[in-house]
Amino acid sequence: MQNAAIEAIGLAGEWSYEAIDVAPDAFERRLGEMPGEGFVGANITVPHKEAALALSDRASTDSREIGAANVLSFEPGGVAAANTDAPGFLAALPRSPTGTRALVLGAGGAARAVVWALERSGARVHIWNRTAERAAALAAEFGVASVAAEGGLPAAEFELLVNTTTVGMAGGGLEDLHLTPDSFGSTQVVVDLVYGGAETELIAASRAGGAATVDGLEVLVRQGFESLRIWTGKDPPLRVMREAARGA
Ligand code: ATR
Repeated sequence: MQNAAIEAIGLAGEWSYEAIDVAPDAFERRLGEMPGEGFVGANITVPHKEAALALSDRASTDSREIGAANVLSFEPGGVAAANTDAPGFLAALPRSPTGTRALVLGAGGAARAVVWALERSGARVHIWNRTAERAAALAAEFGVASVAAEGGLPAAEFELLVNTTTVGMAGGGLEDLHLTPDSFGSTQVVVDLVYGGAETELIAASRAGGAATVDGLEVLVRQGFESLRIWTGKDPPLRVMREAARGA
């Protein structure tokens, strides 16, 4: 996706994007080596996003409030941290979340950027999590509500549902999220951050119920678009990135 975009904006040959596998105990050292190796920046993913923020010299207000950075830029004055998970998520939505009732499933690292983005956009945010204490803690931190799932989640009461859990990544489905095929309707937007592999049960069921759906790959593409924009100062072609990500 990134290399396709780099080529499309005329930087191939000069720039390339590569995957680097780093263990948590080697992260700080590896990061320290990168500017000297000619890297202009890095996308950071699980489980390093909190460490990336902590190790940066400067951080955007957004990444500080979210508590995680997925973009680093190696600048002459030091390492700058940013978060494009939040704007990427918002950009992937088919309509504005302002004023809508939103239900975020999950309270882990991926939930933080989503809850922050929705709360900032003026949505009425509710959080459900398998471990209720984590939902309550995240809700308190961001000044939003948490909900319990006794007898199933009242999905019909929400215009926007976002799955930030790992359910659907390597198994698991609607039942684990306390949802049923009847949970969805045509007035809803359903987002599943899970990507890779086959369509998730959540996306399939919500589409069958008439909801507008956004899959994890679209959210990934949008954060990648925002990331490349930070490093290059250019607008990459979204369609090229989307097609490359989907193997089209
Ligand atoms: P990430 O940083 O990707 O969000 P995480 O912090 O490990 O990863 O969070 C994973 C999320 O998926 C959590 O909300 C987790 O719920 P718990 O807090 O109860 O662990 C949720 N999750 C994982 N497996 C789940 C399952 N089988 N059913 C429901 N929720 C699940």
